[in-house]
Amino acid sequence: MARIESEVGTRTGAFMKWIDDRFPYTETMKYHVTEYYASKNFNWWYIFGVLAMVMLVIQLVSGIFLTMNYKPSADDAFASVEYIMRDVEWGWLIRYMHSTGASFFFIVVYLHMYRAMLYGSYKKPRELVWIIGMLIFLVLFAEAFAGYLLPWGQMSYWGAQVIISLFGAIPVVGEALVEIIRGDYAISDITLNRFFALHVIVLPLALVGLVFVHIVALHHVGSNNPDGVDIKDHKDADGVPLDGIAFHPYHTTKDLVGIIVFLMIFSAVMFFAPDMGGYFLEHANFEAANVMATPEHIAPVWYFTPFYAILRAVPDKLWGAVLMGASVMLPMFLPWLDRARVKSIRYRGWIYKTALGLFAVSFCTLGWLGMQPADGIYVLMAQFFSAIYFAFFLAMPYYTTIDKTKPVPDRVTYHG
Ligand code: HEM
Repeated sequence: MARIESEVGTRTGAFMKWIDDRFPYTETMKYHVTEYYASKNFNWWYIFGVLAMVMLVIQLVSGIFLTMNYKPSADDAFASVEYIMRDVEWGWLIRYMHSTGASFFFIVVYLHMYRAMLYGSYKKPRELVWIIGMLIFLVLFAEAFAGYLLPWGQMSYWGAQVIISLFGAIPVVGEALVEIIRGDYAISDITLNRFFALHVIVLPLALVGLVFVHIVALHHVGSNNPDGVDIKDHKDADGVPLDGIAFHPYHTTKDLVGIIVFLMIFSAVMFFAPDMGGYFLEHANFEAANVMATPEHIAPVWYFTPFYAILRAVPDKLWGAVLMGASVMLPMFLPWLDRARVKSIRYRGWIYKTALGLFAVSFCTLGWLGMQPADGIYVLMAQFFSAIYFAFFLAMPYYTTIDKTKPVPDRVTYHG
């Protein structure tokens, strides 16, 4: 297999040959990095996959350091977090990095998913990339939920109480399931221990594994682009896509700019507003869990609230849980719900553009409603926006068929 020409005959070249004869290093680097051709017309929407990777690394590294001083026991957990914040060298920074990191991870992942909806990246041949992405999303939810119980604050305890008890609404097996999740008749030290095991070992392992296959699947079919044109349709004599540029050094250099800007914003929040006025770390969670005192309003952290609003919009507990589950799972079916012949929003008609806009508005409004008390006008609004959310998906096979699309160009549009 070919090696870098300048290295042939040198010590480095000989060493690399030794490695390559035993491990496909150069081959892998070429396939995934230096000879992975992605479209030259990527815009800033394409930064969020890389940023999700940055966030994953930040969470893993800060999490390891937190684990060194955190105590997973109902008696000690809250105090051990206080100890990390006050006495451990740089402990406050590590903790805020992890808690701010959780919210930033979700911001980045939501924008990453929205990009796929803008440019039809879930459509053939990237259905599996999307489905693996959805599995990542589900595991990320579980990871964040398990992590939120660990500081053993008021909202950790009562939030977990509300969500775990939902499983009790499932007919026949519900109560048994709730006991299995809690490991006890109430949320207790035992629950904390199993959530700790899930949060630090099982779910991070699953996440890393899924991200790996996400990228393998993506590189097998190739990246989409803002035009939704297949760059592999036009290649030069060497088989290189005419509209493609090598991931390294071109996309990596551009990505680095995005990463730096992102880390500046991340640092600003981490240093100056780590609790983000109660949105990233809820005020009630600065008090230790108290089994005898329910907080006035129980609301999950912002990234769960769109789905929480759907849960509370339905008067019946079982149906509320079913619709919440459905709202999380529905995007998984987008590759088959979307019947349009074009991928990118650039060439779609007004119907899809309006539908996507309404979807974005309903998702954000539901997020806000999930933080409000569940009464009066708020419930009515949640019902209205839940209906829009579901209509976006369920009516999609119809409106994407009748929507008048524009002709898609042969090659990507690029203004250098
Ligand atoms: C830990 C979380 C995730 C990481 C680290 C990650 C990473 C990446 C990376 C590096 C790319 C290539 C660069 C780019 O196109 O932005 C990518 C592409 C993609 N991801 Fe993710 N991803 C994550 C979660 C998700 C989720 C939750 C979904 C959707 C449910 C998703 C769907 C996609 C799709 C459809 C593409 C192809 C986009 C295109 O070619 O236009 N990803 N991902």
